Amino acid sequence: MRIVLLGAPGAGKGTQAKKIVEKYGIPQISTGDILRQAVADGTPLGLEAKKYMDKGELVPDEVVIGLVKERLGQDDCKKGFILDGFPRNTSQAEVLDRVLGEMNMPLQLALSVDVDFDVLMKRLTGRRTCRQCGQMYNIYYNPPKKEGVCDKCGGELYQRDDDKEETIRKRLEVYQAQTAPLIEYYDRKGILKRVNGVGNIDEIFANICAILDTLK
Ligand code: AP5
Repeated sequence: MRIVLLGAPGAGKGTQAKKIVEKYGIPQISTGDILRQAVADGTPLGLEAKKYMDKGELVPDEVVIGLVKERLGQDDCKKGFILDGFPRNTSQAEVLDRVLGEMNMPLQLALSVDVDFDVLMKRLTGRRTCRQCGQMYNIYYNPPKKEGVCDKCGGELYQRDDDKEETIRKRLEVYQAQTAPLIEYYDRKGILKRVNGVGNIDEIFANICAILDTLK
């Protein structure tokens, strides 16, 4: 299964990708997670990326494309992968098509998780993530049992630096201008499917599985 997940910031790409990993056993490649790890590690790449992430802008293509190429070349991607947060613009999508073509692993599906813009702001300002295991919560929609503490592993929950209202607005603008056109890009290639991303997380996942099961 070779899948790209599309959707605005807060659409639930990460939430659903983690469930796909659990059920189908293919790796999630999240450029946002890779970049945040580089920031946390204080690597030169992380320090460079942080300048853009804190403003809600896209990190330059040459940085992100290099990371994804390297990751796709690893052995566990031979059985498939879910790209989450990549590609983010048409030039990234074109490079991806070329790289996957050379590897003989063309994309099978671009799945757009659709959520109205007014819902996204509340999802993003309410998001909390576990520092230890990456489990996600939302203080409005799916809060942890004990405030600030992960239900799964007891780890500390934190708020992402770019989940401040002003930065969220910029991220949504960038999505509209640069990433939303990919929906048409993949539609033209005949591999686009869409799911409604509003409602119960498990019900959305069931709708996604119904689509993924047609790929096997
Ligand atoms: P990235 O990490 O990719 O962030 P994003 O696209 O803004 O997406 P999010 O992670 O914010 O949202 P999501 O759709 O995964 O939603 P989630 O499941 O968490 O990118 C961050 C930055 O890195 C970018 O701004 C850029 O600077 C840089 N970057 C990354 N990739 C790049 C690239 N390719 N090129 C250049 N730069 C790049 O859910 C959100 C919240 O909603 C959670 O609290 C969750 O619990 C809740 N939720 C989920 N589903 C539901 C539901 N059904 N009902 C109620 N609540 C729900």
